[in-house]
Amino acid sequence: MPGTCVIGLHWGDEAKGKIVDLLTPRHDFVVRYQGGANAGHTVVVGKEVYKLSLLPSGVLTEGVTSVIAGGVVINPAKAIEELDELASRGVDGLEKNLKISDRAHVIFPWHVAEDRALDSNTSDGENIGTTQRGIGPCYRDKVARSHAIRVGDLYRDDLRQTIQHVVAAKRPVIAAMGGADAAESLDPEAIYNEYTAYAERLRPHVADTTEMLLSAAEAGKMILLEGAQGALLDVDHGTFPFVTSSNSSGVGVCNGTGLPAKYVNFTIGVVKAYTTRVGGGPFPTEQDNADGQRLRDQGNEYGTVTRRPRRCGWLDAVATRYTARLGGVDAVAVMLLDVLSGFEELKICTAYEIDGERTNVFPSHVDDLRRVKPVYESLPGWREDVTGVRALEDLPANARGYLDRIAELVGRPVCLVSVGPGRDQTILTGAAEQLAV
Ligand code: IMP
Repeated sequence: MPGTCVIGLHWGDEAKGKIVDLLTPRHDFVVRYQGGANAGHTVVVGKEVYKLSLLPSGVLTEGVTSVIAGGVVINPAKAIEELDELASRGVDGLEKNLKISDRAHVIFPWHVAEDRALDSNTSDGENIGTTQRGIGPCYRDKVARSHAIRVGDLYRDDLRQTIQHVVAAKRPVIAAMGGADAAESLDPEAIYNEYTAYAERLRPHVADTTEMLLSAAEAGKMILLEGAQGALLDVDHGTFPFVTSSNSSGVGVCNGTGLPAKYVNFTIGVVKAYTTRVGGGPFPTEQDNADGQRLRDQGNEYGTVTRRPRRCGWLDAVATRYTARLGGVDAVAVMLLDVLSGFEELKICTAYEIDGERTNVFPSHVDDLRRVKPVYESLPGWREDVTGVRALEDLPANARGYLDRIAELVGRPVCLVSVGPGRDQTILTGAAEQLAV
């Protein structure tokens, strides 16, 4: 059974890129299956820091085929920018090793204009705080089956007419949403020229990745599925409407790749040793105080894509247990443990109180989530710098106690602990030892 899946269990930014990078050498394929350039993956190799938002983290490993599957919404300019950046830094073989699905939907300038206009035009004035990369509008056009252009369509003879038609339809809508200038600036001929140039550049990468992945899975190849964002941002099961527009909880693997669920045999759920969130929406364990600021400073919690300061808080075991169950998570990776060094006391949210009632169930409606009072358990912290630790038994006893409590509350073993950004700053235990090199 060939599939390993890595998903975030919070609101994204759980440092999944590092895990994918570690697991890649044992796999033949690394696949992004949802989201787009709203994600930000940082991978540190030696002294080199790579920041990717669209290309799978697997592109940094030779001999592995990286795939942007059909469930991704692709901004071709961003893909080319990242390809150029990697080439200029000596990463080669990408012409052969990166495949982009001809079924993936393409992000156009009108999607970005709509994203900006929509997110500042809400009925209650509360914004989702999107990354403004056009993600939601592109997925909406896909589901609506109108005005949608897929990668394969970029090579059709009628592309110029299609773009003219879509621009004519979009202009009044964007203007009516308050984006008059953006609507006016949409020039169909310029967009056509720009996108045909992108299409030519990406031509060697474009493939029927559904067929490719099905054949690979049937042949027993090892496939690593790289989730973007986190499960709490899942459009169906997350904190709707403060979510992204794809299935980021792990349930998106099948629709995003075309692979049936039976090919995923091991799922790693990734959490930070605390919790963060970017953008709007409820966050029960948020610490809008000195502790939150300290987490932000020690963890350098600023968005990879937008540089927005991340909201920071204590680990929420209720939310994490929910998303671990939702994602069929087998084991948990705990990232950024080093950030907690120096805290005298650590807190974990073990239950919620809603209107005086205690519960372990993660509410389905954000209004209920807003009313939640977290019930905290306090654990003793540790002073030691743990960035040089490479074995669980060498961690301070309180750090081990903290990890054990997470495993107990989430109901899954901890298979990996990260104590710094470097590839080597990792403690592998259990199943992760077999999956990573
Ligand atoms: P969108 O995905 O740009 O539509 O943004 C929707 C919500 O998801 C916003 O709150 C974003 O901040 C959040 N979001 C999207 N991508 C990421 C990510 O990779 N990490 C963290 N938050 C994200």
